[in-house]
Amino acid sequence: MRPTPAPRTYRVKSFGCQMNVYDGERMAELLAQQGITAAPEGEDADLVVLNTCHIREKAAEKVYSDIGRLRRDDGSSPLIAVAGCVAQAEGEEIMARAPAVSMVVGPQAYHRLPGMIAEAVAGRRAVDTDMPAETKFGALPARRKVGPSAFLTVQEGCDKFCTYCVVPYTRGAEISRPFAEIVAEAERLVEAGAREITLIGQNVNAWHGEDGKGRAIGLDGLARVLADLPDLARIRYTTSHPNDMTDGLIAAHGDNPKLMPFLHLPVQAGNDRVLRAMNRSHTVESYLRILDRVRAVRPDIALSGDFIVGFPGETEAEFADTLKLVDAVGYAQCFSFKYSPRPGTPAATMADQIPAAVMDERLQRLQAALNRDQHAFNQASVGKRCTVLVERKGKLPGQWLGKSPWLQSVHFAGEAAIGDLVEVELVHAGPNSLGGALVASPRP
Ligand code: 5AD
Ligand code: SF4
Repeated sequence: MRPTPAPRTYRVKSFGCQMNVYDGERMAELLAQQGITAAPEGEDADLVVLNTCHIREKAAEKVYSDIGRLRRDDGSSPLIAVAGCVAQAEGEEIMARAPAVSMVVGPQAYHRLPGMIAEAVAGRRAVDTDMPAETKFGALPARRKVGPSAFLTVQEGCDKFCTYCVVPYTRGAEISRPFAEIVAEAERLVEAGAREITLIGQNVNAWHGEDGKGRAIGLDGLARVLADLPDLARIRYTTSHPNDMTDGLIAAHGDNPKLMPFLHLPVQAGNDRVLRAMNRSHTVESYLRILDRVRAVRPDIALSGDFIVGFPGETEAEFADTLKLVDAVGYAQCFSFKYSPRPGTPAATMADQIPAAVMDERLQRLQAALNRDQHAFNQASVGKRCTVLVERKGKLPGQWLGKSPWLQSVHFAGEAAIGDLVEVELVHAGPNSLGGALVASPRP
């Protein structure tokens, strides 16, 4: 690789989960601190970071085609850094296959990007997929201006080893960020304009730490402390594992008014044999019991989950159990996926991989049921009054878009501004969003 001029502009493209969105923002802040500015919309950037996802489907192939697409008409390419979970899983391979890439950096090492850029400018390619003992968080710059709803990583990694999942390999072992660091970041986010914070982690409800007085606390205790920030109006958390739904966290849904009535608790399948084969370590029954207990303290809770259809060996009858579970729960919204073998995971080499056509058909049936329930949940909201956190302008003039407490998208017209919490009456329900009428606005 020949030496190249130092980059003046960057673009970060994040794929996949909310953690990647968060990491992408932090990388952007880090690059800005180096004096590199965001490339204007529609213009080429000198440095492109592809922040990749490895959880499903042909993630790696997609990265190679994205790299190819970055080539300019004159044959040159920007400086390219591949970050995220594909970088972690296939770092050396990317270097070998894609000469246009000069940096490969894993999710736990991206605070070292500035040094890697200096190497790249000098003509040296670098791979860093370490999971260093020093955490990246301490090395990242303070949060800049943020929108009204911000993510905050409190926990990373996973020790659960579900047999289909690549996360324990790409994100490493479960770690909880220290309490004081999280509180300081939350304070800074609120100062920068956040009214809502979503605490994120691959197993966010496994977070544990010590509060300011040295007492052991869990996510419920953390949410209680954050609720004391006067300008923070809403707290959410995602993604949770059923086994880490502690009594305290369930109770928090009843007694922490800033904790929003929404729970994303993936179940993956509705059959105990399949759950065992997935190494989920909960049963259908134990999962449903948790939901009952949450509903007992917060009857209006909106429930959400993730599903995988076509796990190796899943029979038609076992899949029918998943549909039964969906009927029993009545989810407000869900994510559902076809099983995708991830290299290196136990399920990838299991017998009885399910043919694609069978998976397609099962996914269609599952999604029809989930869409039906989502629409029903939205329709049942019509007539309710609630606060909406205004996140952006809508498509029509004078229209605003925001989120209800139950994480539904709500559009309404009237006097408002981004970051306002307005009271609306929900008057119309579609499958994916609701229409509201402004009841009270903080603006005269
Ligand atoms: N195939 C399909 N879906 C998967 N997920 C994780 N790994 C796989 C896989 N190999 C889904 C799970 C998880 C969500 C983030 O992605 O449902 O909860
Ligand atoms: Fe993957 Fe299971 Fe860990 Fe979730 S709990 S990240 S699905 S291994």
